[in-house]
Amino acid sequence: MTSQDVRKQFLEFFASKGHLIVPSAPIVLKDDPTLMFNNSGMAQFKEYFLGNGTPKSNRIADTQKCLRVSGKHNDLEDVGFDTYHHTMFEMLGNWSFGDYFKKEAINWAWELLTEVYKIPKENLYVSVFEGNPAENVPFDQEAWDIWAALIDEDRIILGNKKDNFWEMGDQGPCGPCSEIHVDIRSAEEKALVSGKSLVNNDHPQVVEIWNNVFMEFNRKADGSLEKLPAKHVDTGMGFERLCMALQGKTSNYDTDVFTPLIEKVEQITGFKYVDNAVTPSAVEEKTNIAIRVVVDHVRAVAFAIADGQLPSNTGAGYVIRRILRRAIRYGFTFLNTKEPFINQLVSVLANQMGEFFPEIKSQQQLVTNVIREEEASFLRTLDQGLQLLDKVIEEEKGTIIAGAKAFELYDTFGFPIDLTALILREKGFELDEAGFNAAMQEQKNRSRAASEVSTEDWSVLIPGNVESFVGYDQSESDVKITRIRKVDSKKDGILYQIVLDNTPFYPEGGGQVGDKGTLVSANETIEIIDTKKENNLILHFAKQLPENVNAGFVAKVNSDLRSLSSRNHSATHLMHQALRSILGTHVEQKGSLVNPNYLRFDFSHFAKMTETELQQVEDFVNARIQQQLPLIERRNIPFAQAVQEGAMALFGEKYGDEVRAIKFGESMELCGGIHVKNTAEIWHFKIVSEGAVAAGIRRIEAITSDAVKAHFASYENTLNEVKLALKNPQDILKAVHSMQEENAKLKKQMEQLLKEKIDGLKNKLLLEFYEINGVNVLDRRVDLSMSATKDLTQALGNAKPNSFVVLASVEDGLPNIHCYIAKELVEKKGLNANKVIKELGQYIDGNGGGQPFFASGKGKNVAGITEALNNVASILIRN
Ligand code: ALA
Repeated sequence: MTSQDVRKQFLEFFASKGHLIVPSAPIVLKDDPTLMFNNSGMAQFKEYFLGNGTPKSNRIADTQKCLRVSGKHNDLEDVGFDTYHHTMFEMLGNWSFGDYFKKEAINWAWELLTEVYKIPKENLYVSVFEGNPAENVPFDQEAWDIWAALIDEDRIILGNKKDNFWEMGDQGPCGPCSEIHVDIRSAEEKALVSGKSLVNNDHPQVVEIWNNVFMEFNRKADGSLEKLPAKHVDTGMGFERLCMALQGKTSNYDTDVFTPLIEKVEQITGFKYVDNAVTPSAVEEKTNIAIRVVVDHVRAVAFAIADGQLPSNTGAGYVIRRILRRAIRYGFTFLNTKEPFINQLVSVLANQMGEFFPEIKSQQQLVTNVIREEEASFLRTLDQGLQLLDKVIEEEKGTIIAGAKAFELYDTFGFPIDLTALILREKGFELDEAGFNAAMQEQKNRSRAASEVSTEDWSVLIPGNVESFVGYDQSESDVKITRIRKVDSKKDGILYQIVLDNTPFYPEGGGQVGDKGTLVSANETIEIIDTKKENNLILHFAKQLPENVNAGFVAKVNSDLRSLSSRNHSATHLMHQALRSILGTHVEQKGSLVNPNYLRFDFSHFAKMTETELQQVEDFVNARIQQQLPLIERRNIPFAQAVQEGAMALFGEKYGDEVRAIKFGESMELCGGIHVKNTAEIWHFKIVSEGAVAAGIRRIEAITSDAVKAHFASYENTLNEVKLALKNPQDILKAVHSMQEENAKLKKQMEQLLKEKIDGLKNKLLLEFYEINGVNVLDRRVDLSMSATKDLTQALGNAKPNSFVVLASVEDGLPNIHCYIAKELVEKKGLNANKVIKELGQYIDGNGGGQPFFASGKGKNVAGITEALNNVASILIRN
């Protein structure tokens, strides 16, 4: 059975049980500050468990792209070393939202595995929650009884809180679970050791494949459990493990999910992967690990980029960069890949998975380019790091390299510590690992302290209310507060999050910043400093709470700021249209920021835009502003219809079945943001910068309306000042040109004069050498720039045999000093300019150095020059 069939049968089975089949949510999460990536199938449904929203069906099934590389569920460092963990994996899941419960979930799981997939019953074990008195959660008798009717009791295992109570994070929905494990060992192995004893014991061939969670609780910030308003089912089956069991393999990497990728790596690198049917030698195992790391990581990185998350230096982007770098480094060290190669796997992945996940096909070129560029840049870093490491080793007296040095390499150059340790070992050095760990810990403590946030539980004033957003039609509304929560963060201090029964405040989203404004009651006014969305709730941020939280308020959006943002937002749509029409339809939005001051738009395009193209884009947008196009807004139209009519949808965005379309003339986009009623309100559009953000991604920053006026006003101002400075010429440009010509002429004359001055000085000074012990000595302060003094020192030294020259001068108020010693004196008398400069440097409060024949120094104390020069003779007398 191919992996495509496995996926299809799962979805068909649950469709036949009345489930709505939905697409995977993007792998990168938005609107959830507690989670960076989708780490389980249920993440996109979290709000339904909490009762903050209503699902479109109370039975849903899908396959979800998941990434477990940060937070509570993090498998990154294990990946590659075993045969059944991954960074990105697919989770097949079925959900009941307040509908069916344990009986149906367990029976269907059993039916699917044993009757559809036909896994022999004797290969399956199940686990049931044993209960936890401390948390007041009892033994799951109900699940036990349901299983006992299907399976020998001997195959049911009791599991503790760690294994059988599932929680998505430190807070949030959770509940007891029942896992299904499969034993895929050979008959001989089974006869020797019972499968039951190996369940939950990290055996690579006795693994969990399916988890059925019975969501009943919510874990609160204080650690306590509260009952959820309804009971739900949340299940997750590891697709790759299921494929392993169904394809008769003993490693996920031997299934057709991975073999095409592995073959490509073999073809590129010349290394061979040994499949799990054979035991690899120690050397082969190293290659195997590296190949597993590469083929696993490329999936995570490619899908994240396709869903709009570019590698970067912060947040989710940094996690993606680190995953890719881990793959690059394993390739570099164990597969001998010194050139970018991982990007070549993207086409294989697109062929394999593109049918079910079209984003990887349509973004193939971009994903390939971004990965290639990242690879090239990290390989350069590795190269620099290697050179630096060589230097560290060269300077080291003993055989132990200080941990702090290795940490510096790691921290500043991204040079991986295990690679440092490996190279050191190869060269007979040791790494002070304790020192490295201490430096690392210190940095972690610093950044943890900076990012600490503590969030209290909600206090609910009006229960059961589902907040409505009225901000498309009004900027003021009568409201009541329904819940309040206090958040304390190192960054922002204490803030309160307020939820209202209805709100005109637009929460940050689709690039547009959240509204600011006020909550006004009869007695007080509270400033709302920002608005954001979290798990379908609109949170209004305030520095203080009203004294009477139960009062009636008028929520007032700051309309001036909102109106400026809306102009920038509508201009962004017009610019998007302009870019696609001028540069081509390969242009796709890759990021956007819209605030009252400006707009920023990232998009895929492979070359720097020319001046003409930028002008064309400005003209295109300004023409549509002049045409005074009215906003045509359509709310709640079916997604498919909107796309059919030509509305642009973005990859990596999660759309509901019903969407809102924003149309200005021919521009039509799916968008939840706030827009102008007519393009005339934008007044004018001006691009202020264009540049690169990553391989194949350009960024434009632009301004509209008031900001354009301010922009032109400031130009005019500057021009007026220039005019004034030039003494009001008729033609400014002509005046500037003639000034430039004049300048060039003067510069030439200056250079000539300076040359003459130096030549004159040189001839004069040649006569002022004096002799000590057969050495021709000259020490003088001269009135030249530092570089001219340096040149003159060398010229004088070269012109005289047996010479010892020390010249000093002052530049920008600071002293400098130079020493030349003729080669024969260095060799015969052991004189050393480097040492001379170190010695004389003391008098001018300075330091410096160079070669035995020539050295220079700089200092701070001009008055010390005389003393420094006075000591020249004594050096020679001493020698
Ligand atoms: N949410 C459950 C898990 O991820 C099904 O294991």
